[in-house]
Amino acid sequence: MKTAIAQIRTLAAKAGGTTIPISVTHTDLPTNDWSTLFQTVLCSPDSYLAGESNVFCFASGTSIYQQIFPPNHIAFGYSAITEHWLSRKPCNIPNEIWSVRATGQVRETWAAQAKADWHAFLQYRALEMQPSAQLIIVGSGADAEGNSGAEGLTDLANHILRQLVKDGTLYPTEYEEMAIPTYYRTAQEWKEPFTSDSNFPQGGVLSLDHFGEVTLPDVYLEKFQQDGNAQAFAKAYTGFFKAAYEPCLFVNLSDKRTPESRQQVIDLFSQRLQSALAQDPAKYSCRWRLQLMLISKRPE
Ligand SMILES: C[S@@+](CC[C@H](N)C(=O)[O-])C[C@H]1O[C@@H](n2cnc3c(N)ncnc32)[C@H](O)[C@@H]1O
Repeated sequence: MKTAIAQIRTLAAKAGGTTIPISVTHTDLPTNDWSTLFQTVLCSPDSYLAGESNVFCFASGTSIYQQIFPPNHIAFGYSAITEHWLSRKPCNIPNEIWSVRATGQVRETWAAQAKADWHAFLQYRALEMQPSAQLIIVGSGADAEGNSGAEGLTDLANHILRQLVKDGTLYPTEYEEMAIPTYYRTAQEWKEPFTSDSNFPQGGVLSLDHFGEVTLPDVYLEKFQQDGNAQAFAKAYTGFFKAAYEPCLFVNLSDKRTPESRQQVIDLFSQRLQSALAQDPAKYSCRWRLQLMLISKRPE
């Protein structure tokens, strides 16, 4: 955000303008940890607000799959690692929890939901952006084969859940509902709304000016290779998995369970995950695939 503010200031100065006021709106779901966000933005010395005047911050809890801003409002947008979260789980995935592992009709249903959500996202941003406005997207996506790069970890998580069903800890009906509502789009799927044969209605309004792909290094594995501390590796990935997926994975535990029984299932899963991760860090290493996009709204 600091970079974006500096760029806007430079461009405004070149155009001979005085310091223009800049409004920054953070958007996330209503359940986001907004207190931490505001404490960081308002109080951290590293915040983009530190040392700035005429920069104002706001927040919105409206989903990215709805209209967030008035029409022609946004001058510059930035969204990172969010559009792989779908608006809903379109269907269960037999014997799997990860959409990458879905096959046949089930896979098509997930792909169709991801397409509809990407269209909805772009449709609302096209409405909200000012003419010539730019939007940067850092998307968590897939390689050409559809792999996200985290399949070692998510296959392990699925294996542990299936073991929990086998030993009677988890009910089969609970496991059946467990599909993480994320989808990892290939380059082709990200680009689809910008192609001439797409049925995306705002195709003429937005243009995809740049598209790039990177594969992230695994910082936890690199650390393990330096210090040999498999427990630290396992703890880091268990913490990541817990923060990212635990709420959606265990949301459908039977309402007949007591709070203690729910917590026992969740804790047992985490313990088993951590202990398995420590056995073979390289096997469960994640190399996330990112797609980087610069999208602009055509001038009027
Ligand atoms: C991996 S985090 C990325 C957070 C931040 N953009 C960053 O780069 O550090 C994904 C975020 O997307 C949010 N999210 C998921 N679905 C969303 C939706 N439909 N609308 C808005 N935010 C959503 C989650 O609450 C979470 O904070």
